[in-house]
Amino acid sequence: MGLVKHQLFVANCAANFKKWKYLLDNSTQKLIQAAKLAQQNAYAPYSNFQVGSAILADNGKVYAGCNIENAAYPLGQCAEAGAIAAMILDGGTKIEKILIASPNEKRCPPCGGCRQKIKEFANQNTQILMYDTQENITTVDMKTLLPFAFELD
Ligand code: THU
Repeated sequence: MGLVKHQLFVANCAANFKKWKYLLDNSTQKLIQAAKLAQQNAYAPYSNFQVGSAILADNGKVYAGCNIENAAYPLGQCAEAGAIAAMILDGGTKIEKILIASPNEKRCPPCGGCRQKIKEFANQNTQILMYDTQENITTVDMKTLLPFAFELD
């Protein structure tokens, strides 16, 4: 196989790889489903940037949230905050994994405030998954997402 042909082959494999959903572990598939469903209900008439988020909690359950904007812009709430609220309301206490579904082909990293909100219920190894419309997933752990997090003690 020539070099160019080989490179094309490798690129093609990489492109197909992310479509092989069965290679994703079960909980990631559930988080994608839940976040995408939540994203459909996002209320984002001001930014037109609909976000969905889903948490796998320590109790094995999945909790989802979407962003909810407000005419008074600063009152808007991110999708991650909604998912955290759902988890806490239901008695979940720790985030094992949280996935954020972006509305476009670029990943949607949690904003600074949400990093601190996630950290409250995370440990250093909690996984943060950024899922985009091309079905790419970028995964980072908590300590990478928010080094030097604020702590009271
Ligand atoms: N947003 C989220 O819901 N999560 C993020 O991680 C980043 C941003 C929302 C806030 C606002 O409603 C819209 O996206 C545009 O910033």
